[in-house]
Amino acid sequence: MEKFLDIYGSLPRAGPGSDEITRRAYSVMHELPAAPRILDVGCGPGMQTIELLRLSRGTVVALDLLPQMLRRVEASAAAAGVSDRLVTVEQDMNSMTFPASSFDVIWSEGSIYLIGFEKGLTNFPGLLKPGGFLCVSEAVWLKPNPPLEVVEFWKEYPEIDFVEAKLRIIEQAGLELIDHFILPPEAWEENYYRPMWLKIAEKEREWEGDAEGLEVLRAAKDEISVFRRFSDYYTYAFFVMKKL
Ligand SMILES: C[S@@+](CC[C@H](N)C(=O)[O-])C[C@H]1O[C@@H](n2cnc3c(N)ncnc32)[C@H](O)[C@@H]1O
Repeated sequence: MEKFLDIYGSLPRAGPGSDEITRRAYSVMHELPAAPRILDVGCGPGMQTIELLRLSRGTVVALDLLPQMLRRVEASAAAAGVSDRLVTVEQDMNSMTFPASSFDVIWSEGSIYLIGFEKGLTNFPGLLKPGGFLCVSEAVWLKPNPPLEVVEFWKEYPEIDFVEAKLRIIEQAGLELIDHFILPPEAWEENYYRPMWLKIAEKEREWEGDAEGLEVLRAAKDEISVFRRFSDYYTYAFFVMKKL
């Protein structure tokens, strides 16, 4: 876990995305209160947390299982001068303890897969006020019949599906779809795979002869390689939904 975090915990983001994408999803939420209360589930290093603090005049509760991630969010918020509106919470997204109807917005970029898209859409809205927004990004297929290597990679998340299937789940959950859009390959590269590649090169020298470390590096390289050869088969999509 320590070696894994040396790579995945050190990047600007821990999944695909960018400030531009956070802004695009935020911009379609109309009729937000002047100072919304936002919950960022699985915040990771918190690039989107800081952007949400910049975009709103509200409070952001950044929730993650790992204290290392929360310390990074706190440091970034201090550097951006927005600490006074940030609250960090070390908690499991499967058993969050906030009172019902606590939030105007629940945000989860690249993290809802950890509870599962369908379960997240069932569990999270209870924490939203009526008319509140649920904004998540989720893995989707772009075309059918992916090569075996891609299928093997995504075995860890069998809920990956086409956008149309995700839209049906949104409807079944009783949520109103406000907008959805696909993340371009650049959203994977800029803040995630390019910095990861540089980190791998640095650690390859440092971890020479360390079997555990080299295994982490091999898996990270494989992940990047699959994406760079087959990004026309899969990506993340952003879904902005409203609780009726
Ligand atoms: C793939 S990262 C995405 C982070 C961030 N949203 C981003 O886009 O950079 C997922 C984050 O969820 C956290 N996490 C994993 N399991 C969790 C759980 N059960 N409850 C809360 N957070 C969890 C991880 O520590 C990690 O920081």
